[in-house]
Amino acid sequence: MGVVVDGCPAGLELSEKDIDSELAKRIPKKTQIVSYRREEDKSAILSGVFNGYTTGAPICVVTMNKRARPEEYELIKGTPRPGHADYPARMKYGGFNDYRGGGRFSGRITVSFVMAGAIAKKLLDLIGVKVLAFTVQIGPVRVNRPPTIEQIQRNTYKSSVRCPDLNCTRRMEEAIERAKSLGDSLGGIIECHALNVPVGVGEPLFDSLDADIGKLLFDIPAVKGVEFGLGFKASELTGSENNDAYAIRDGKTVTLTNNAGGILGGLSTGMPIVVKAAFKPTPSIPREQKTVNLEKMREEVIQVKGRHDPCVVPKAAPVVESGVAIVLADHMLRGGYILKVLLRR
Ligand SMILES: Cc1cc2nc3c(=O)[nH]c(=O)nc-3n(C[C@H](O)[C@H](O)[C@H](O)COP(=O)(O)O)c2cc1C
Repeated sequence: MGVVVDGCPAGLELSEKDIDSELAKRIPKKTQIVSYRREEDKSAILSGVFNGYTTGAPICVVTMNKRARPEEYELIKGTPRPGHADYPARMKYGGFNDYRGGGRFSGRITVSFVMAGAIAKKLLDLIGVKVLAFTVQIGPVRVNRPPTIEQIQRNTYKSSVRCPDLNCTRRMEEAIERAKSLGDSLGGIIECHALNVPVGVGEPLFDSLDADIGKLLFDIPAVKGVEFGLGFKASELTGSENNDAYAIRDGKTVTLTNNAGGILGGLSTGMPIVVKAAFKPTPSIPREQKTVNLEKMREEVIQVKGRHDPCVVPKAAPVVESGVAIVLADHMLRGGYILKVLLRR
C-alpha cells in the first residue's frame, strides 16, 4: 500500500516511527472481532524527508503486504460478492482490475489513509489541533451517554472496538461475536471530534469545510452516511431548538450548544467540529447469498471465504481520524495557519 502526500511544507520533523504508531492503532489486539489477517504494518518513507525533516518535495510512503493470500480471491473473480465492489469494478475496468484483496476497493487501502493522516496530524499538532475518533455504535449496541473528552483520550484505544465506554465495549464485542457465529456481519458508527480549530477555516462555496470532510469520509470504503452535529435530526427541530445561542466565556465568543457540529456556512465556528460516519456491515460474509456467474451467465450461490472482518468499525476509528485530519491540515495550510508556526521555529 502506498501514498504520496504533496504540499507538505519543509521543516516538519518526520520519521517512520510517527507513521507506524498511527498504523498500529488500526489493528485491535482481540482477533475474534476483526479478521485474523495480521499484518505487521511497517512503513518506509521513500521520498520527501531528509535528515529527519520534510524537504517540501512530495512524500512517498509505502507499507508492504506481507501476508497476502491472493488465492483466496479466485472464487470471486467471475462471481461478484453481493455488497462489495466486484461487479461494478469488473464492468468498468473490463476485468483488468485487481480483485485479489489488496486492490483499491479493499479495506487494506485504509492503510494509505492512515499513513497520510499521520503526517496531517503532525502538522496539526504544531497548532494544537487534536482530532479524536471513537466508536459510538456497533450493530444495535450504542453508547448510552456521550463520552467526555477525557474518557475518549484515556479509553478509546484500550477498547478492542475503540469505544471509550468500556462497559459498552463488552456488549459490542458480544454483538460482533454473535453476528460472526451466524456467518454474518455488523456495521456501526464512528464519531470524530476536532478540537481547537480556530474560527473561519474553510473556503466556501465549493471547498466548504463540511463538504470537504464529507467527501473524504465518503471515500473511506463502507461509509454510507455522514452527519455534522445533529445532522438529520436537525430537520425535525424548530429554529429556536436548533440554533446555537452565542455567549462570552473567558473573553471568547462561544455557543451554548453545538448542534451545528462546529461548522456554519462551510466555515469553522471555533467550537469542536463533530462529525459522524456510518459504516455498513462487512459485505464478505460466509453465509450463503445469491449471486451470478458472469462467465457462464447463470445464477449461483456464493459463500465468501477468506479473512474478512465481521465488522470493519474497530479498524476504522484511526481511518476516520486520518480523513478529518487530512482535510483540516489541507485547509489550515491554505489559510496560512501552519506555515506561520513552522517558519517561526
Ligand atoms: C477498515 C476497513 C476494513 C474492511 N474490511 C473488509 C473485509 O474484510 N471484507 C469486506 O468484504 N469488506 C471490507 N471492507 C469494506 C469494503 O472495502 C467495501 O464495502 C467495498 O469496497 C465496497 O465499497 P462501499 O461499501 O463503500 O460501497 C472494509 C472497510 C474498511 C474501512
